[in-house]
Amino acid sequence: MHDLVTEFPTRKGVVRAVNGVSFDVEPGEILAVVGESGSGKSVTSLSIMRLLQDPGHVAGGSITFDGKDLLAATESEMEQIRGAQISMIFQEPMTSLNPVYRVGDQIVEAIRTHSDMSKKDAWARAVEMLRVVGIPSPEERARDFPHQMSGGMRQRVMIAMALSCDPKLLIADEPTTALDVTIQAQILELIYKLRNEFNMAVLLITHDLGVVSEVADRVVVMYCGQVVEEGEKFELFEYPLHPYTLGLLRSIPRLEDEASERLYMIKGSVPNPLDMPSGCPFSDRCERVTERCRRERPELKEVPGTTRRVRCFLYDDEAEVAHAVEATEKAHVVKAKLEAEERERIERARKMSGGAEVTVEIEEEEEVR
Ligand SMILES: Nc1ncnc2c1ncn2[C@@H]1O[C@H](COP(=O)(O)OP(=O)(O)O)[C@@H](O)[C@H]1O
Ligand SMILES: [Mg+2]
Repeated sequence: MHDLVTEFPTRKGVVRAVNGVSFDVEPGEILAVVGESGSGKSVTSLSIMRLLQDPGHVAGGSITFDGKDLLAATESEMEQIRGAQISMIFQEPMTSLNPVYRVGDQIVEAIRTHSDMSKKDAWARAVEMLRVVGIPSPEERARDFPHQMSGGMRQRVMIAMALSCDPKLLIADEPTTALDVTIQAQILELIYKLRNEFNMAVLLITHDLGVVSEVADRVVVMYCGQVVEEGEKFELFEYPLHPYTLGLLRSIPRLEDEASERLYMIKGSVPNPLDMPSGCPFSDRCERVTERCRRERPELKEVPGTTRRVRCFLYDDEAEVAHAVEATEKAHVVKAKLEAEERERIERARKMSGGAEVTVEIEEEEEVR
């Protein structure tokens, strides 16, 4: 996706919900897109799927999927791509599941839309997919209606449906927001595991940076329809460059701070899209704001010596960049150490139980982290 611009003409003016967003998702990679509500995450994903509601439309830029220009694709080509090559799951499965059909039949329907499989084979595949997403007694549960299932189980059904045609890209828009914390973790773990199994790319959209800390490979931080920071997860968590990313990180509840009730909050709120500051969109809320930030808009720039891009004048300063590079090096040392420990742990487990069938156990152990 390059320089995507998506606009909604309204009576009061044109709302530019996505304003020049560029990022790529590689096969097998989990890319998290994070940002407060209203930052343009859902509009970005709906633009990819070409599912924007009128009068919303893509006003500029390009979206390429597997070498194909999605913005130039015909509607019937898009119908072929949706569900078969790019699948999407949403926050509230009830809005995507049809209450009057059994969940198994709905998966069968999804499968048969994109293949000429017989009903019987599609049913078998549906049951198999329910098993893959961890639904107990899938033969029986396939005959359930959506309302007979819990929220977590319904989200598993949605994932089963999304994966039933073996997509290359899964877009998950706030897939765990409606669920309680334990179930959230289980669903994320499932997405993580299925990414490995299906070697698909995942675009994980969330307002909660805590959600991405475990599962993402790379993170894109959005603010007011723009990317303000991007980078490899470990680097970004270790040393956030943009003051907005830092604010988001400080707002994640931590287990250690259970005693302290007051959680950090970024002051102020997202500006009205029809009345944006003339300088940096974050300037009114930023703890490191300068005169220049109020006058000029920063560009998204690569930070040499890191995997990062950042949209902030702070990194025009060589000392800030040097600091960032130093912190990045440290982050990689810590990461390498953690990975070595992990390998050692796996090696120990392998030695202790000696044998080939252990791999399964080890994989499970990895997932729990
Ligand atoms: N149908 C619409 N009409 C007008 N503006 C819209 C519409 N949908 C979204 N927007 C604008 O796009 C912005 C981004 O929305 P969205 O992508 O849903 O945010 P997020 O998913 O990050 O919470 C919103 O703040 C709103 O200003
Ligand atoms: Mg959204």
